[in-house]
Amino acid sequence: MLWLMRLSGFLSATMVVIVLSPSLQSFPPAEAIRSSHFDSYLRFPGQIGSAGTDRPRFPFREASPFHNAEECEDSTIDSTACDPALVHIAITLDEEYLRGSIAAVHSVLQHSLCPESVFFHFLVSDTSLESLVRTAFPRLRFKVYYFDPERVRGLISTSVRQALEQPLNYARNYLADMLQTCVRRVIYLDSDLVVVDDIAKLWRTDLRGRTVGAPEYCHANFTKYFTQRFWSDPKLAGTFAGRRPCYFNTGVMVLDLERWRRSGYTRRIERWMEVQKGAAGDGAGGRIYELGSLPPFLLLFAGHVAPIEHRWNQHGLGGDNVRGSCRDLHPGPVSLLHWSGSGKPWARFDSNRPCPLDALWAPYDLYGPTP
Ligand SMILES: *[C@@H]1O[C@H](CO)[C@@H](O)[C@H](O)[C@H]1NC(C)=O
Repeated sequence: MLWLMRLSGFLSATMVVIVLSPSLQSFPPAEAIRSSHFDSYLRFPGQIGSAGTDRPRFPFREASPFHNAEECEDSTIDSTACDPALVHIAITLDEEYLRGSIAAVHSVLQHSLCPESVFFHFLVSDTSLESLVRTAFPRLRFKVYYFDPERVRGLISTSVRQALEQPLNYARNYLADMLQTCVRRVIYLDSDLVVVDDIAKLWRTDLRGRTVGAPEYCHANFTKYFTQRFWSDPKLAGTFAGRRPCYFNTGVMVLDLERWRRSGYTRRIERWMEVQKGAAGDGAGGRIYELGSLPPFLLLFAGHVAPIEHRWNQHGLGGDNVRGSCRDLHPGPVSLLHWSGSGKPWARFDSNRPCPLDALWAPYDLYGPTP
């Protein structure tokens, strides 16, 4: 049964390659942004395996060894995160998205010319996951950071979508504080994506003096990310005065941590969370947005983002909440595939209902025994 699934996966992958070939691209231009792109914040339980309690807790297998190409700058002199030749990536590891995070790491290594020069910073709320990373990637250079959920518990407001309020979703706000100060730049990646290009290209992005680099979506309706209350209060709405704010997805970001630290953005994000929570007082309180960790980023950075090519966040592949709905790629080249939306490829494989593009995720999956 498994081989049959794989086979059909390969067939769909072949179809996808045909679709991706520029001369044959025929699907209609997608709208700049999909309705459910912000669903990357959605975390729902029960995605590791289908339920089997008799199985080992996390049966992951070891990835094939990876080595730097000859032309790579030697980065083995210094084994700490302070080695200037390193590319830094931050990603969260939690039980629910573990399979996705491991696949994301695997994909980065597979497509890097210099995989030994990539350093991973894992944000966890369960430190027992460290040994699992070691099992899958024995030679990986990484560090695990414990993110205390209490740090944001008091700041998280009750949203209409409880699932968006997983504390670990907010760990990205604290990267500048958690990572050593010698780490001056970091790429933040969500757990439901795979990289299919050399991450060093994204790493070398010129941020042109900006703190955040991300693909921008200026055709998206920006209004909908904030409530009526926000827009009708001139003091609040005035936050965007003098800029042209565009939506961006916080699932793929290049962050200048030096600038971040210098400008105290962590505290500024917390202040917006306090406003949302209603803790700010003097009439400014109350719900000003619906979604979880995204809006404070929009409040601080929208309109001041260094635009990155859209190929680095081909988002929305998770599809919408309607079970079984599949998405196409947006037109254009692809360096990163992002299953934002409520459907996740591993869950769909488990239920034997993969979408065609899920076949592009499958080669990076390290879950389960050796096939
Ligand atoms: C944008 O979204 C807001 C709030 O959801 C809505 O009222 C408005 O009509 C939308 N504008 C356009 C141009 O779709």
